[in-house]
Amino acid sequence: MEKIVWCKDFNVGVSEIDKQHMALIEIVNNLIESVSNNENRLEIIIGAITKMSLYATKHFTFEEQLMQKYSYAAFSLQQEQHKQFRIKIINVSNEVTACEKSVPLELLVEITTYLQNWWLNHILEFDMQYKEFFNKKGIN
Ligand SMILES: [Fe+2]
Repeated sequence: MEKIVWCKDFNVGVSEIDKQHMALIEIVNNLIESVSNNENRLEIIIGAITKMSLYATKHFTFEEQLMQKYSYAAFSLQQEQHKQFRIKIINVSNEVTACEKSVPLELLVEITTYLQNWWLNHILEFDMQYKEFFNKKGIN
């Protein structure tokens, strides 16, 4: 799998959010690196999934608070997407925890592909929609 290369097209123009998105992509990239290296030891993968789960929760809270503060129209759509992700990451976490010693590579690829697609789609399709909105409010 190829690592995600961050480029300026990923920027939503709110520096704190861009910083958080970069950190999230970095966690996805760590998993991509694990896939490339056949690194499937349980503690390594659980570590990455836990990091993803905690950081995503922190990020969604930050984003949702900002959206609520400025009455962003697509707030509930965003909230729903975030909720779906949180449910999925709990399921992923349970699946991984149920493994013994190592995570089957097939499962690792499946999880990593899901996370890669979800974040790229979410940032580029959904978060990008608030770029202009926050920019006009003078948030950057
Ligand atoms: Fe979002």
